[in-house]
Amino acid sequence: MSTSKSTLSTHPVPQNLDFSQLSGSLKTFEINGQTVSYRAFENIVYVLKPTDTRYQVMNIYIPEAYFKNQSVDGFTAQTAPIFFPNDVGGYMPSQAGKPELNQRDGNTPNAIMVALSKGYVVASAGARGRTEANGRAPAAIVDLKAAVRYLKANDKNMAGDANKIISNGTSAGGALSALLGTSGNAVEFEPYLQALGAAKANDTIFAVSAYCPITNLEHADAAYEWQFNGVNDYEKMDISMLDYKVERKLVKGTQTPEQIRLSGSLKQQFPAYVNALKLKNPQGIAMTLDAQGNGTFKKQIEIMLMQSAQKALDAGKDLSNQTWLTIQNGKVIAADFNAYAKFVGRQKTTPAFDGVDLSTGENNLFGDENVDKKHFTQFGMANNTAANAQLADSKIIRLMNAMNFQSPTAYYRIRVGENDRDTSLAISQLLALQLKNQGKLVDYALPWGVPHSGDYDLDELFAWAKQISTQK
Ligand code: DHB
Repeated sequence: MSTSKSTLSTHPVPQNLDFSQLSGSLKTFEINGQTVSYRAFENIVYVLKPTDTRYQVMNIYIPEAYFKNQSVDGFTAQTAPIFFPNDVGGYMPSQAGKPELNQRDGNTPNAIMVALSKGYVVASAGARGRTEANGRAPAAIVDLKAAVRYLKANDKNMAGDANKIISNGTSAGGALSALLGTSGNAVEFEPYLQALGAAKANDTIFAVSAYCPITNLEHADAAYEWQFNGVNDYEKMDISMLDYKVERKLVKGTQTPEQIRLSGSLKQQFPAYVNALKLKNPQGIAMTLDAQGNGTFKKQIEIMLMQSAQKALDAGKDLSNQTWLTIQNGKVIAADFNAYAKFVGRQKTTPAFDGVDLSTGENNLFGDENVDKKHFTQFGMANNTAANAQLADSKIIRLMNAMNFQSPTAYYRIRVGENDRDTSLAISQLLALQLKNQGKLVDYALPWGVPHSGDYDLDELFAWAKQISTQK
């Protein structure tokens, strides 16, 4: 009995990685009065030497039209982009996604259903995650890359254009989506991919959609305190698993004197980091911060917040309770970042990511096969309160951060809800600025009133996807 569960949930190790030998099953669903017929190829183990086939599997869905030489929305079997959503939350192990309704937001069709209805081929890969001994960093990104290699190696055998892979993810999954884009084909991953028996192909992708990416973990603690220093009351999740998919119960508290002290030191680290990146905004202005944490970089975030607020105002929302905004005659004329931070409130205690007691999900992410949890910053290590604490290998820490690579991917769409307090707004701002400075096309916005979540604007997401994949 005790083995039946794992037997049921695992899948046989494949003899080869040849998609043409698989047979799919014909299925349909209804969406907005339209019947969508598609073939489902599920639980494809995408590497030859998997370590956990509960997660190292991919579901591939192909519109039936492409088996009949028909087109959908202007796409054909040759030209249809491959939508590549991951379902990672909290850096936990994740399953391969399916077309289904989102029960949590009122039975709306999920991104996979919408993608299929618009003629995309969909490939959703599961990935190992932090709670399994073999799922610690960099396992999840290695798995997603292996799945991309499978698609590229099978480009001729499969409908969809593997040169048009569009990744999507939210939160930890958004961080992995961004990382998949920036680290495309980076040589550092080669040994890990070879060890898994990944298909021989490159793993660059065409475009990235990332919702509220929890990336740049090495600098996320300093960024958080730069934003929230002085905001000592918090509403923290009552469980350590900060997965956007789990219903959030918040408990109130106040930072201890020690947390307040740590906040002050972390805040001080942030300007030097921002200044060292030598970023410019689209107008060519250098993005900097002074020792107090003020400067053009902060102003840039204020401008983004003003744009978000203006859009909400123009759509008829009442913003009169937003005390951090200055509005005159229907125009947002100023946003005060410090007042904004107080208004939205602190959600994490200091340090937000590398817990001094090794209690966060991220500490778990940077563990290894033998050690459950580790620090991943010098600061966390220096202020450690846990027994026998270790610092993770700097080479591995580096592999999890989308900021650490020169992106071969040209297109990015980054969305972070204006109400998101899971990481500082500085984190996505720096990512967007760095990508723009690398010459990439970045569509970045902070949609008004939106909390830590994703896939809430699928019409706009697929309008962007269509535009980038069909422009000449
Ligand atoms: C997620 C949220 C967090 O606050 C975090 O630290 C890591 C992951 C998530 O929702 O995936």
